[in-house]
Amino acid sequence: MSSTPITTVTVAGGTGGLGFHIVDALLSDGSFKVKVLRRLPKTANEKAELLASKGAEIIYADYNQHDDLVKALSGTDALISAASPAVAKHESDFDALQMPLLNAAKAAGVRRFIPSEWGVETKPGDHPLTDTKAAFREKVEQSGLEYTRIACGLFAEYLGWCGFDVKNKTAKFYVDPDTTVAVTCMSDIGKYAAESLKLEACRNASIKVAGSRYSLKEILKLFEEATGSKWKFTVDEGVRHRYANQIDPIPSPIEVFIATLSASASFENIDNDKFSFSPRPLVDDIAVLVQQASV
Ligand SMILES: NC(=O)c1ccc[n+]([C@@H]2O[C@H](COP(=O)([O-])OP(=O)(O)OC[C@H]3O[C@@H](n4cnc5c(N)ncnc54)[C@H](OP(=O)(O)O)[C@@H]3O)[C@@H](O)[C@H]2O)c1
Repeated sequence: MSSTPITTVTVAGGTGGLGFHIVDALLSDGSFKVKVLRRLPKTANEKAELLASKGAEIIYADYNQHDDLVKALSGTDALISAASPAVAKHESDFDALQMPLLNAAKAAGVRRFIPSEWGVETKPGDHPLTDTKAAFREKVEQSGLEYTRIACGLFAEYLGWCGFDVKNKTAKFYVDPDTTVAVTCMSDIGKYAAESLKLEACRNASIKVAGSRYSLKEILKLFEEATGSKWKFTVDEGVRHRYANQIDPIPSPIEVFIATLSASASFENIDNDKFSFSPRPLVDDIAVLVQQASV
């Protein structure tokens, strides 16, 4: 059954690392009226100003005030969430964070909800943070709203955070270095999100996209080629076990989170062929990371 086009799209967290690129892609597409939902109190924000200058409407609401949120979302066809708490990300509760959005979206007559997933494929119990994303995903799927879940693997821009240290030419892996991971840059994730709103195959669907799929060792080789030097690397495959059983040396929660992401991003089957564009090659993102590290 085909449905009427989605025209008005609101992005919660549109000022964020990823949210900015989603809003930018929606604006570049040219077929959407785009709103960026920000939290009250109003604060100055360069990204919001830039997006407003490109045509986005910046709207504000208190997430704790249901009526306020419903009013802000009225007239929205699709709500894309790229919201994320700014601190302690590895401990974030994405269920609690997004429930006010889901409740208000239903009350406001929003048709489609894209939750703040943008990650990997975990199993229940893999990590508290991904468990909260899964709990929320279930609520979205049961809400009666149309939904799309978009998994995109690791963000290319965050490879440094995932263990590739360009400045010191070292890498740290928390899984077997032969593990394959999907990696996608944020501007392409934005394009996938925007185009998903037009594709029947993305209605009530879980979509997996990947800018590229390489083993960690292959990514290391790309970094070595880009820097023109051999890197040292270490492997610590025991972090999740040691953390779960509180065995010394007890890893940090961030290390456990990186281990979880690295182990859950292999994406055997991807949905790239449903989309009209080819993603940017990883070498281009690596070149940018290397360039950034040199300044
Ligand atoms: N796969 C990966 O490698 C990877 C990497 C990073 C992130 N992610 C995922 O991508 C999504 C977005 O992450 P991000 O790093 O782009 O987010 P971010 O930049 O940390 O934050 C996004 C926006 O969320 C809003 N926000 C902050 N605290 C909030 C709160 N307590 N309640 C509601 N909104 C709040 C802020 O917007 P306003 O101040 O304008 O309201 C902020 O600009 C998350 O699901 C995250 O887990 C995935």
